[in-house]
Amino acid sequence: MMKDTLLEMLKPFGPSGSERAIREKIAETVRPYADELFSDAMGNLIAVKRGTGEGKRVLFSAHMDTIGLMVYAADEKGFLRVTPLGGVNAAQMVARKVVFENGAEGVVYSEPLPDGKYTMGRLFIDVGAETEEEALKIAPIGSVCSLPLQAAFLGERVSAPYMDNRSACAVLVELLKALGPTKHDIFAVFSTQEEVGCRGAKAAAFALEPDVGIAIDVTVAGGTPKADPPMPVYVGKGPAVKVKDSGSISTPAVRDALIAAAKRAGVPFQYEVLPYGGTDASAIVTTRGGIPAGTLSIPCLYVHSPVETVSLRDMEQSVQLLKAYVEGME
Ligand code: CO
Ligand code: ZN
Repeated sequence: MMKDTLLEMLKPFGPSGSERAIREKIAETVRPYADELFSDAMGNLIAVKRGTGEGKRVLFSAHMDTIGLMVYAADEKGFLRVTPLGGVNAAQMVARKVVFENGAEGVVYSEPLPDGKYTMGRLFIDVGAETEEEALKIAPIGSVCSLPLQAAFLGERVSAPYMDNRSACAVLVELLKALGPTKHDIFAVFSTQEEVGCRGAKAAAFALEPDVGIAIDVTVAGGTPKADPPMPVYVGKGPAVKVKDSGSISTPAVRDALIAAAKRAGVPFQYEVLPYGGTDASAIVTTRGGIPAGTLSIPCLYVHSPVETVSLRDMEQSVQLLKAYVEGME
């Protein structure tokens, strides 16, 4: 079931560069559905479903890393200072509990704000230490932390940290389960370091030499009170087929094939033009001599906040759409 898979994907630790726990969890989950399973030097996990040899090489990429914080210093009173991994909003981290990879816990707070502005430089993590040495024993320089799982079930929707991009990991896991034998070779890449620049996908797409690549990721949904500018993509109205974001312009033929697949599968879909952001498609489309690529997006409210919110139905429809896409491919 999608909800169970999603919750399993949300639990493991995995900020950019520290994806071991989530990689192991996904490997264990997809092993029965893959003909081959391996990881590479970047830490990507690649599950292969072999075709007959007469089809295409089709790459799907869902990044498994999350945003997070990395310790770079401690002061003489034992407070840790951190630098962000990816687009972390400082204001939204204040008064939050964080967990380090080694299981140590901390709470985030801020220096006073003479100008009312939360910045990364003003944040500190209290791990209960009273000296620099004590703090760095708990969380050495380079330690990484993120938010613990805390989910809210809002009817059809689920809210939790790291729907970006564990919701897409769940979709790719469910796609592997749903796909029967086809003539195509399917490469399901659970990529690393997307939040710091699509680095895992860059290496994987080069190495795997696909004929086509599809990133699966969340996109920013609109529709909240007084949102400005409006973003005409909505949670609960079906997966979004990306036309463009800051990182890539979807290859028109790939975009159109995804739309045709939505129609064949009978699932609603939305067009997405995002004025910022990017996905693994930006790395795939620009590697080698250029590889046709696109993105299927799961609409998500409050992206990069601790309450990222997606619809389970949009996720299920994403699986149906992608299955129809593979099955309809020449
Ligand atoms: Co992100
Ligand atoms: Zn993402």
